[in-house]
Amino acid sequence: MKSNANSSNQSHASINTQVLAGGKINGVVTVPGDKSCSHRSVIFASLAEGVSNISGFLNGEDSLNTAKAFQDMGVSIERSGDVSLRIKGVGLYGLKEPSNDIYMGNAGTGMRLLAGILAAQQFNTMLTGDESLSRRPMGRVIKPLKLMSANIAGDEQGKPPLSVKAPGNGVTAIHYDLPVASAQVKSCVLLAGLYADGVTSVTEPAPTRDHTERMLRSFGYSVTTEGNRISLEGRGVLTACDLEIPADISSAAFLMVAASIAEDSDVTIEGVGINPTRTGIIDILRLMGADITLMNERKAGDEPVADIRVKSAQLRGIDVPEHLVPLAIDELPVVFVAASVATGTTRVTGAEELRVKESDRIAAMAEGLKNIGVDATATDDGMIVNQSEITGGVVETHFDHRIAMSFCVAALRSSEPILVKDTQHIDTSFPGFFELMSELGMSMSTTD
Ligand code: S3P
Repeated sequence: MKSNANSSNQSHASINTQVLAGGKINGVVTVPGDKSCSHRSVIFASLAEGVSNISGFLNGEDSLNTAKAFQDMGVSIERSGDVSLRIKGVGLYGLKEPSNDIYMGNAGTGMRLLAGILAAQQFNTMLTGDESLSRRPMGRVIKPLKLMSANIAGDEQGKPPLSVKAPGNGVTAIHYDLPVASAQVKSCVLLAGLYADGVTSVTEPAPTRDHTERMLRSFGYSVTTEGNRISLEGRGVLTACDLEIPADISSAAFLMVAASIAEDSDVTIEGVGINPTRTGIIDILRLMGADITLMNERKAGDEPVADIRVKSAQLRGIDVPEHLVPLAIDELPVVFVAASVATGTTRVTGAEELRVKESDRIAAMAEGLKNIGVDATATDDGMIVNQSEITGGVVETHFDHRIAMSFCVAALRSSEPILVKDTQHIDTSFPGFFELMSELGMSMSTTD
């Protein structure tokens, strides 16, 4: 397993990609494994009793950093194929003190979920990240963990690095009303709750991805969901299992928008996770008039999957319903691209969380869209996008993988090429993106 221990966003060699204008994309493909499920598979398999075999694991930097963190805490994790891992769990109480800081790279999910587990360990750790992660708010996990008697602190603004010290008498169970709809915060509290006596529960203001709940059940751990309240009883046992991770709908989203907006395109993406807490992108694109068919619906472990076929369609502008925002939070950057060529006006509201992702995605997308000729206006909590002629140009990605992929997709409807800066970060979530897009028919060239 590769080590990224000393890497940071800015220390990756910079790669800029010139994506040629126009073109069509056609074919049947698979995209890499789901990032959320990949993180969780390593976490739960490491804390389980016995050996788990994981297939479909995302070989992206984020999930590899999570695997490295558990290796550093004494868990044996072996690759048993390109995207398969064999993990020998150490049980809830078998982690060892790492000899160095734990480096989470770019991964907010990795850091926030690990904070929940480390808060309950009888050793001290320091969680660090790259420049982007070091700017992200951790107060949202520090606050509930302190209520659980954890000994955790960030810097004076509640940002990483996070110092997590052994909690004298262990963590205590709480009920926590989540102030933001965040699966990461929900998961962090539930993970700490695994180590507390009694029942730990959270209520969420709106549904968020439920992979933690589903995967805990796959590992034989009982989790109760009643309406918007999720609870579990601490001090149980996770039992090793074999898991198949679905292809990531967040990665598939770039292909879905690409096939919708490019001319004469028809793309099928196989085995994509269609967990209802993740399918906001399908609902939004369908409301915009996209031609999307779900085929061959089946199960991969506890997660529903399908093959998704998308054909070109003239999209129309909509007011994106706010209840779909948390269900499509990572896909909104590419929705803004779809909106650029949709007739009329598209408005996204209630998406202020975008401002605290890997970059400020509202600012980054508004700036980049303007640079390529799109009439886009950032608002505090979203964006207003009017139908435009995409004229091409140069865009900054702010070291954010999803901003980079969104602008690559935009080139399919541009009259001139788009030079997308710093595309090296695409490996965070979608290794092989350019190979796959060029197999489908997109043309690009890279420069250092
Ligand atoms: C994730 C939850 C989301 C999402 C992130 C992955 C997860 O973040 O944006 O990419 O795996 O739990 P929030 O829960 O903070 O919204």
